[in-house]
Amino acid sequence: MIEKLARKNILALKPYTSARDMYSEGILLDANENSLGTTSELYGDLCLNRYPDPHQEDLKKAAGEYFGIEGKNLFFGVGSDEVIDLLIRVFCEPREDSAMILDPTYGMYQVACDINNVKTKVVNLKEDFQIDLEAVKKNFDSTVKIIFLCSPNNPTGNLLKKDDILELCRTYNAIIAVDEAYVDFAGDNSLIKEVNEIENLAIIRTFSKAWGLAGIRLGFCAANEELIRLLFKVKAPYNVSSLTRKAVINAIGNKKKKDEFVQKLISERERVKEELSKIPGILKVYSSDANYLLFKCSNARLIQKKMAEEGVIIRDRSSYEMLRDCLRVSIGTEYENNRFLEAIKKFL
Ligand SMILES: Cc1ncc(COP(=O)(O)O)c(C=O)c1O
Repeated sequence: MIEKLARKNILALKPYTSARDMYSEGILLDANENSLGTTSELYGDLCLNRYPDPHQEDLKKAAGEYFGIEGKNLFFGVGSDEVIDLLIRVFCEPREDSAMILDPTYGMYQVACDINNVKTKVVNLKEDFQIDLEAVKKNFDSTVKIIFLCSPNNPTGNLLKKDDILELCRTYNAIIAVDEAYVDFAGDNSLIKEVNEIENLAIIRTFSKAWGLAGIRLGFCAANEELIRLLFKVKAPYNVSSLTRKAVINAIGNKKKKDEFVQKLISERERVKEELSKIPGILKVYSSDANYLLFKCSNARLIQKKMAEEGVIIRDRSSYEMLRDCLRVSIGTEYENNRFLEAIKKFL
């Protein structure tokens, strides 16, 4: 199925063979690096003067063990944003194919399609922000090569129903790309272990949220081996830097801290939700499986501006048809959350 869905030129592509593809040890005079060393004194034992392993074996080993996935099923990108872009470039022929997006959702699916000149079919989620299977059916045609799903969904915060996702996988001859950027905050609800069984399922994950590593830019795709091979074909030879690798491998060794972050953020999320619900003028606070809350109040746009003037920055999401008067607030430290609550009380 993967071969049938992929762009012909990608299947035929002879990828760039980099110097570090075959040799990483010895007298390395094959990559025009600087053998004398590096100008940066910050990173001690890291060989920053050498290109990193293009096969990403170190990351595959560390993340593979943590997530319980074989290395051959993993591809790492510069944030999950790179993974989203590469999936489009592998499967969607510009001007001919399309991707389906279930709105309201993360804006980069649309932007990445626009950049690649790939059409989109935008289908609204149902009022409860679950997948509208009928609407998907009505809008699906053979040009659709990817359906982007986001679970928990940004900005609505809810997990999508697992049965609905699995039904899409079974029904459609397309890649079902499930972006699980926030799944660490949603209990045991990742579909990552299903990638061995379901050929057209691609899970997108990131180290930017629960792991607290947004600054180093690392995301990954877990999928069947054939799909992963195609992502490796099209990536830039050394897309993930040595610094990023070191930071992530260190973080995985420190996974207890991530669990503590998650626990704290979930308990703050529930506290802020409760406090927010009590404020007169807040029309609705949606429940969340993520590290943010979506809520409704009148004059949302104005409130967002006034809050920013007060130094508390939240996101106006009211331009989405289904999210009129909705704002989204990330859960921060206890102090930040209290500042947010004080400010919003003042303006409502
Ligand atoms: C749903 C979703 N996917 C992906 C990303 C981007 O993640 P990364 O930092 O890994 O590029 C975000 C960022 O906010 C997001 O909300």
